[in-house]
Amino acid sequence: MGRRPMIAGNWKMYKTSGQSAILIQNLDERVESMWDRVEVVVCPPFTSLKAASTVIELDRLQMGLGAQDVHWEPEGAFTGEVSVPMLKELRCDYCIVGHSERREMFGETNETVNKKTRALLAADIVPIVCCGETLAIREAEQTDAWVRDQVRAGLDGISPKDAARIVVAYEPIWAIGTGRTPTPEQANDVARGIRATIGAMFGPEAAMTARVLYGGSVKPENALMFMVEPDIDGALVGGAALDAVSFAEIVAASL
Ligand code: PGA
Repeated sequence: MGRRPMIAGNWKMYKTSGQSAILIQNLDERVESMWDRVEVVVCPPFTSLKAASTVIELDRLQMGLGAQDVHWEPEGAFTGEVSVPMLKELRCDYCIVGHSERREMFGETNETVNKKTRALLAADIVPIVCCGETLAIREAEQTDAWVRDQVRAGLDGISPKDAARIVVAYEPIWAIGTGRTPTPEQANDVARGIRATIGAMFGPEAAMTARVLYGGSVKPENALMFMVEPDIDGALVGGAALDAVSFAEIVAASL
């Protein structure tokens, strides 16, 4: 297919600045030899982005840097928020948007996901747009329709050129941090639906080049079985990304 695999670590609310710098250096030692074949991205908390960015720049690491959220306005009276230009200044390449934890706990909606997606793309930061169903939705056999709706809403109004570089992370909510996962075939079915939605919205080229990741309890033991699926281009990793050894094993599985 020619899509470069991506393994992105979502560090959530873990790792201080000092801990982040150490984790990045430990990780780099283990993934350095794989740089040319897989894109490795780390997404530390806001407060660690500066330290992470500095280590990546000074040590000339081939590692992508991502934030975990952003506000869509460039500046303003939004206490506690962080803007796209602020992320840009720290040389962020990526930003997670619409993670289910933000949707469930912090009022993120498809509409705000779309605003963030557009604002990021305008500044040349690639959004990692998260989608995924609850267990109730899966049991009601509504997963495909639900996820396609999230993707349609999240990517609404972007250009085909931007759609071609977008990253969508399919993360079933019931699989996040639980140790449970869908079967690789089930995950691939949803990934294929996401790709078809991108194709219907933006044309075949965007569908061919946009990357779709799987996320939810990805571990060294199960990573390979998701990676071999044709529509899955990598993983968004939570818990297992906090340890350099396990994250590097997941990176190796994507080769
Ligand atoms: P997990 O988290 O790997 O710990 O299940 C994934 C995520 O929330 O992105």
